[in-house]
Amino acid sequence: VDPDTPPDTLSDRSLRAVAQLIKDGRAKQVVVMTGAGISTAAGIPDFRSPKTGLYHNLARLNLPHPEAVFEIDFFRSNPAPFYLLAKELYPGNFSPTVSHTFITLLAKKGLLRMLFTQNIDCLERAAGVPADRIIEAHGSFATQRCVDCRTPFPDDLMREYVKRGEAPRCTRREACGGLVKPDIVFFGEQLPETFHSNVAVPGLADLVLVMGTSLLVHPFAGLPCRAREGVPRVLFNLERVGDMGTRADDVLVLGDCDSGIRKLADELGWRDELEATWRGI
Ligand code: APR
Repeated sequence: VDPDTPPDTLSDRSLRAVAQLIKDGRAKQVVVMTGAGISTAAGIPDFRSPKTGLYHNLARLNLPHPEAVFEIDFFRSNPAPFYLLAKELYPGNFSPTVSHTFITLLAKKGLLRMLFTQNIDCLERAAGVPADRIIEAHGSFATQRCVDCRTPFPDDLMREYVKRGEAPRCTRREACGGLVKPDIVFFGEQLPETFHSNVAVPGLADLVLVMGTSLLVHPFAGLPCRAREGVPRVLFNLERVGDMGTRADDVLVLGDCDSGIRKLADELGWRDELEATWRGI
């Protein structure tokens, strides 16, 4: 890499090369990995951005530490902070971003091998990404169940409780009375089986896109390293994260992910389709 090439022209030239890979049909198995950074433009705060991140704003709830809001032991002792947060994050009030829409375009064009997301906002589904191409590695708000007897809890009832910011209790006949929790993976819980059974998929990719994640939480954060040597890995993120940028074929598109994605769409000649699809969602 030419050291005195200013980064933005570097990434422009490299984005042109990535677009050429797709246009030449040399990238047909695209694997995408996303985090909260692709939903900030939808109005959902991410976790670790200074000032705006959720973990900075949870301090007011006098938690032992911010992540406690997603820790199963703390939740069992005090579900109130989580349900306060759930009220803010619950799907239904947010729309997909341009970045979500680009992933839908990849799927429409038969190029999306798999999307691994850490997000629990279900915006990928709302954007139209086919369910069989999404691995929600940290679960989602889509379903919920009792933490003790695992009995599923009705969706419509859950919505009412979340609206009120209250923690629902299990309704099983034998009066289990256990706390109800959305099927979000809390710290200390296992990731879904679909994550483990697809963890080798990045090794099949001929192009990897990493978008809007700090790559701090494992095992998800280890996914980009599973791409084969020689396979381009493109990072769309405000700042450099993980081992992105350490391989010769890595491309760093640093800045707002929607702007980076729009640049790539321009290089691909997909810009009008991207904007029209996004407006149509
Ligand atoms: N454009 C590009 N990057 C952005 C944008 C944006 N508009 N907004 C935020 N980012 C970047 C931030 O700079 C940061 O690098 O996205 C990243 C978000 O990182 P986190 O807040 O740590 O979110 P995420 O990586 O998804 O967190 C992983 O941590 O708490 C757990 O389970 C939770 O799934 C979550 C996991």
